[in-house]
Amino acid sequence: MTAAPQIPLRLVESLRKVDRVAVLTGAGTSAESGIPTFRQAQTGLWSQFSPEELATPMAFAENPKRVWEWYAWRRELVTKARPNPGHLALAQLARRFPQFTLITQNVDGLHQQAGSQEVLELHGNILRTKCSREGRVVEKWTDTPAVPPPCPHCGAHLRPDVVWFHEALPQETLDRAMAAAASCQVFFSIGTSTVVSPAADLPFIAIRNGAVIVEINPEPTPLTESADYVLAGPSGMVLPELLTCLA
Ligand code: APR
Repeated sequence: MTAAPQIPLRLVESLRKVDRVAVLTGAGTSAESGIPTFRQAQTGLWSQFSPEELATPMAFAENPKRVWEWYAWRRELVTKARPNPGHLALAQLARRFPQFTLITQNVDGLHQQAGSQEVLELHGNILRTKCSREGRVVEKWTDTPAVPPPCPHCGAHLRPDVVWFHEALPQETLDRAMAAAASCQVFFSIGTSTVVSPAADLPFIAIRNGAVIVEINPEPTPLTESADYVLAGPSGMVLPELLTCLA
């Protein structure tokens, strides 16, 4: 039985009974906003570049200009992008549960633009810039031909405020995400290939806590066989359908 093309009735009935929901989103959630994902063959960002060349402290140390310019290109894409119906549905869904925790691996800020509050950004935010030496966020700097621009306080290179491979995630954010995964009654994993830890560990923490696991992804992932519900469609379609079923 389904309540809508993609939504099993049993899932809707379970959701009507719970208070605590946690959601983990990945790049797939922003795909319908025109932002490339990372690992999709051909269209994914990592099909043209390798993560090691661009998204590591070593890559930045070796060629800060190339890394800064790649993020400037991605920032351009992000500033042109708008939240899609999936982002908007998640912001609405939050109002239906007393405890709703939105955890994202995305750095595009589209959840906040869609109206989601208290988004746990595990991998930072591409629209924020920080000093590569002091780590503090820098909101403005003088126009300069230097690429990357120097920190106005100490002169070191500025860098995007995102978490690179081999870097630690913001500890307080990660702790809150893990606590939500460990205490939720339903865990949604949406638009993520579930391959990059510690984010990819969160659904498995939820499984150990006995939560109902819902995966929304057109493709299978390492989580798929452990999920209670697999909604194999684009999040921009499935989430509005889910919201309608819960109305
Ligand atoms: N709706 C839902 N899922 C989708 C959609 C869509 N419209 N389009 C694609 N997907 C799925 C793909 O099937 C894939 O499983 O989204 C997933 C995107 O996976 P990745 O490109 O690996 O992105 P993500 O899982 O967010 O990557 C995790 O790795 O590169 C690092 O730091 C980066 O945060 C990123 C992390």
